[in-house]
Amino acid sequence: MAKKLWDKGYGLAPEVELFSAGEDHILDMDLLPYDCLGSMAHAKMLAKIGILTTEEAELLREELVAIMRSWARGEFSISLEEEDVHTAVENLLTGALGDLGKKIHTGRSRNDQVLVDLRLYTKDRLLTIFFRAVDLAKGLIEKGIAHRFAPIAGRTHTRRAMISTVGLWLGSFAQAMLDDLVLMDAAYRMNDTCPLGAAAGFGVNLDLDRELTAELLGFSGVLGNVAYVNLSRGKTEGAVLAALTQVAADLSRLAADLILYSAEEYRYIELPDELCPGSSIMPQKKNPDPLELIRARSATVLASYLNVMEVVRSLTSGYHRDLQETKGPFMRSIDMVDSCLVVALEVVNKMEVNEDALKAHLSPELFATDRAMDLAKEGMPFRDAYRKVAAELHEIDAADFEAAILNKAHTGGPGNPGLEDALAEVEAWEKEIEARAEGFYSALSSLARVDFPGGLYE
Ligand code: ARG
Repeated sequence: MAKKLWDKGYGLAPEVELFSAGEDHILDMDLLPYDCLGSMAHAKMLAKIGILTTEEAELLREELVAIMRSWARGEFSISLEEEDVHTAVENLLTGALGDLGKKIHTGRSRNDQVLVDLRLYTKDRLLTIFFRAVDLAKGLIEKGIAHRFAPIAGRTHTRRAMISTVGLWLGSFAQAMLDDLVLMDAAYRMNDTCPLGAAAGFGVNLDLDRELTAELLGFSGVLGNVAYVNLSRGKTEGAVLAALTQVAADLSRLAADLILYSAEEYRYIELPDELCPGSSIMPQKKNPDPLELIRARSATVLASYLNVMEVVRSLTSGYHRDLQETKGPFMRSIDMVDSCLVVALEVVNKMEVNEDALKAHLSPELFATDRAMDLAKEGMPFRDAYRKVAAELHEIDAADFEAAILNKAHTGGPGNPGLEDALAEVEAWEKEIEARAEGFYSALSSLARVDFPGGLYE
């Protein structure tokens, strides 16, 4: 049996075969369940329009489920000669079902097939990332509530600036996650239309029911213009990576704070031993490696975003093999952001806030601005008050830090950081994402007649 879908009786030069497959035979392993589900929907649609019989579509479904199960057992593989997951699956179908296997590709191309795989993969992975971001936001808010008014030196230029609180500081990162959810949501919606039926990008002379395939796969609708389908490849990945770049950058900045605040000179935060690897030579060391890796990997995510956009930004319309090169940076960044969120949540949940150290580190200059503001309240022009306080810094009293915090009770101030409002917003997102996940996985479950309670990716 010919291994390649495009086999016409000649072989490729071995170096070109290796070069063209690139990482596809490895990366595509993660696309297998989505490829099978896409094929099930396509077969069912072909049965509806009379290209296949209902029995044939059913046989294909059974075989595709068997392939998914063998993948889950670790028994599925893609050979280099097969190039990609689409070929490996079609070869298995043809091996098992003969001519019926050879019919599955009617009315589609690998171009719309790889897109449907990637869009299903993206939906599945983004849903998990959404939940992780929600959990992290909740973790930050809960820790913020537990230490709502614990005083911390607010800094600008890394130097002592004004009194702040742990509630305000951690709440700010929860608020950042809320903004990231908006960006991720935009990317999620962009990704949520079904490209199947575009074939090579110009449609086919069959009466395809594209709405049916979209519905069977749990998409919100059809990706209309068939020529846009190939243009959307890389663009969608770029939108997802742009959102994830923001997530990764926020995690990186949180990590930077935690690295500093857990250093010996500060000890504002205590990181548990189990999160801190040691040194091979210095017996005392417990290092914040996971936080440093979050910081470094955020750079990789940003670089992947640029990588993807650079690959696509100057291509002419239509499919180009260049598009394959967006897969690696895209999929690796998805993995990276997912695991960075897992580790960040672990750190936030397990770290301890050392309120004694925080109080011991308060100093009078943190209250200088408050003092100037008090004088302004009494009627002194602010610039005069500013100069007076600057000249009398030694007279400032740091003792009553609680009042200094509570006195900033305007919206979002240290005395009123709005943590409960933020929590309500996060919970509203959680409900929304749960409803989306439920809709998506139940559509896929009824298509395959297999349960996918917590997502497909393993
Ligand atoms: N591995 C290919 C990719 O990721 C699949 C599509 C191949 N299509 C083609 N016309 N050669 O782009």
